[in-house]
Amino acid sequence: MDADAFRWLLTDEGTRLVAEAAAALEDGANELTVQARLRRRADGDLVTAALTQASLRRRARAKFGEAADLLWFTPAGLEQATRPAVAAHRARRLAAYGVDAFADLTCGIGGDLMAVATATGATCVGTDLDPVTAAVARANVASLGLPVAVDVRDGTTLDLAPFDAAMIDPARRDGTGRTFRADAWEPSWDVVTGLLTGPVPAVAKVAPGLPHDLVPEGVEAEWVSDRGHLKEAALWGPALATASRRATVLGATGLATLTDEDDPVGDRVPAPTGAVGDYLVEPDDAVVRAGLVTAVAARCDGWLVDPHLAYVSAHAPGPAALSRSYRVLEELPYREKQLRAALRFRRIGALTIKKRGVDVVPAQLRKRLDLSGDVTATLVLTRVAGAGTALLVEPV
Ligand SMILES: C[S@@+](CC[C@H](N)C(=O)[O-])C[C@H]1O[C@@H](n2cnc3c(N)ncnc32)[C@H](O)[C@@H]1O
Repeated sequence: MDADAFRWLLTDEGTRLVAEAAAALEDGANELTVQARLRRRADGDLVTAALTQASLRRRARAKFGEAADLLWFTPAGLEQATRPAVAAHRARRLAAYGVDAFADLTCGIGGDLMAVATATGATCVGTDLDPVTAAVARANVASLGLPVAVDVRDGTTLDLAPFDAAMIDPARRDGTGRTFRADAWEPSWDVVTGLLTGPVPAVAKVAPGLPHDLVPEGVEAEWVSDRGHLKEAALWGPALATASRRATVLGATGLATLTDEDDPVGDRVPAPTGAVGDYLVEPDDAVVRAGLVTAVAARCDGWLVDPHLAYVSAHAPGPAALSRSYRVLEELPYREKQLRAALRFRRIGALTIKKRGVDVVPAQLRKRLDLSGDVTATLVLTRVAGAGTALLVEPV
């Protein structure tokens, strides 16, 4: 979609065509049929743009819920946009700090920009290098009635003097945003660290694979998960930082957070370890990435089953908002032949296999075990004090 096609989509006729395409897709019509029908009303390129927009809105519902129907997208912009729950959390932190004038240097289609403008009521400016992406962000803030300015420009050259907070969320050239490669950023990692340690309070969204040793001095690294999925790391510059490391777990019942200050172990004291007890506790991935597994252990008077693995054991379940807990039913043989016999003896036919710290591919193992029976079970394969261990467990 080019800038002219998008401009046309925003006209009454374009908006009607998108709505019509969306309604037809909703009724189950296939894209070719819809395209043929709409071709009677507009040029091929405009029809393609309307149809693409309608199908992007359908796809966007998984991320934006019903609000997707009011918003505009590009395929990459939708992919890269921060999920509303995560953006709202960041925006609330900025609101608590007290922000009156905010700049999002790499605003994309406006995922973060919309959240910050809504939560803070600040005067907001967004910039993006890509003209179509910037136009989409402009249309999105307008659709929500937010008084936000969006400019097409290189955000790294914006004069930040008038702003009391800024954000940067670089595009990742690998497209996925999951892995961390310092050379894969646009703007570059140096620009990100320069902003974080510069004079204006700033926050950066980065890939959750960020190594701890790259976090600049005085900057808080916050790993955020949403409904069990690790989404991102946010780096908060010194003026906005409230801890060194933080895990924030967003869930159906709200937010739970842990910081290095909740961790009695830290770098100095060795973590308590021991044999598997009544419960096995699996901390949320945000906790694991933040290196705060021992803080979860402290919350439930637990211990690690192996100093290098993110499993806690305890006499009671772990904190529900920060971890998943399993009652340990029994230990089974770790060797495959004996394990198969033990599972068959228990008539276990449906098996969920969880693993940590062992070289096993659950789907392949399940196939090799060739189980049959009417019992459903969960098996954990891990190392306890360095030895491969199989535990039959039951989710709490
Ligand atoms: C990951 S996306 C931002 C997503 C946004 N936070 C959201 O929630 O929708 C990164 C954006 O940065 C833009 N970009 C890359 N380099 C830029 C630069 N130097 N100045 C402004 N924008 C830039 C890209 O065009 C892309 O749209």
